[in-house]
Amino acid sequence: MKIGMLTGGGDCPGLNAVIRAVVRKGVFSYDDEFVGFLEGWRGLVEDKIMPLTLNAVSGILPRGGTILRTSRTNPSKRADGVDRCAATLNRHQIEALIAIGGDDTLSVAQKLHEKGVKVVGVPKTIDNDLGGTEYTFGFDTACNVVCEAIDRLHTTAEAHNRVMVVEVMGRDAGWIALYSGIAGGADAILIPERPFDVDKVAESLRRRHERGRYFSIVVVAEGAKFSADTDPTHGAPVLQDMGKDEFGHAKLGGIANILAREIERRTGFETRAVVLGHIQRGGSPTAFDRVLATRYGLGAIDMVHRGEFGCMAALRSNKIISIPLEEAIARNRVVDEEMIQTVDGLFEKTSKATVNN
Ligand code: F6P
Repeated sequence: MKIGMLTGGGDCPGLNAVIRAVVRKGVFSYDDEFVGFLEGWRGLVEDKIMPLTLNAVSGILPRGGTILRTSRTNPSKRADGVDRCAATLNRHQIEALIAIGGDDTLSVAQKLHEKGVKVVGVPKTIDNDLGGTEYTFGFDTACNVVCEAIDRLHTTAEAHNRVMVVEVMGRDAGWIALYSGIAGGADAILIPERPFDVDKVAESLRRRHERGRYFSIVVVAEGAKFSADTDPTHGAPVLQDMGKDEFGHAKLGGIANILAREIERRTGFETRAVVLGHIQRGGSPTAFDRVLATRYGLGAIDMVHRGEFGCMAALRSNKIISIPLEEAIARNRVVDEEMIQTVDGLFEKTSKATVNN
């Protein structure tokens, strides 16, 4: 079969491992031929390709980023964008397309599927919030990066008697903040699912310092929100600027700086903000992510040959299964109440400066 492949949306450690697994199994087991479309959906709109041979995927397993490059191009934003994608596939006689991406990329895949294109999706987001699947690759790598940063921040915080506020990725879901906050022993974890009261956060830090500690670590997801009307951003996410990408997403970022200022004002403790940003997405994937990404790739190529189009490879109970793309893009998988309650057990009940304040 002649199969096309693309990676769309924000990059994520493990993308190359998926590409490699698809090509290896496709060539070795099914005698497939592969064409890579460059820079996400832009590659289909503008017909930008590269051959994906065994040689092309050799040595890419440990590499972050994606050899196909990526973009947030949305073909639906151009009058004939989706039709152009279908035409490019026809021109290259592509019989099936594997789209590796998050909800935005996969929503375009769903549109193409509705037009009769044979498409299979692979879930990708370091935020770990795609519906229908339990883990996405890249998330574990991001958590390890953040955990290491928290460990480092602990020593400097301790040396200076400071509060450190660490901002991590997580637009709608606080999985990275929660997992890395637990792993790094954070003193407060603030996630988008639970708007927080900065007075309570400050109170909890004060109580911790009264118990004899003289430094604290606060982990905040970029999409977390201040709850009260009197708080700085009045329940809205903090934006870097007013620009939006082609899928309508604003650029988040900057909550750590505001929060650090508010904590210092309320407690008198010297407070610093650290924004980890794209460091979380860069570099080599962890062994866990390499294995997960490889399993997704192997699952996806089998789905193509079983004719399971309009579907996405998903991880459920540690098995790769096939689910409708529609189910995956229907809604984000945010941190659930049960998980929040469990993590809340780590924090002092009275001060409640936790995920559940
Ligand atoms: O969607 C994943 C994500 O990592 C978000 O957490 C973050 O807001 C966004 O990507 C940033 O993407 P970029 O700056 O690359 O457009």
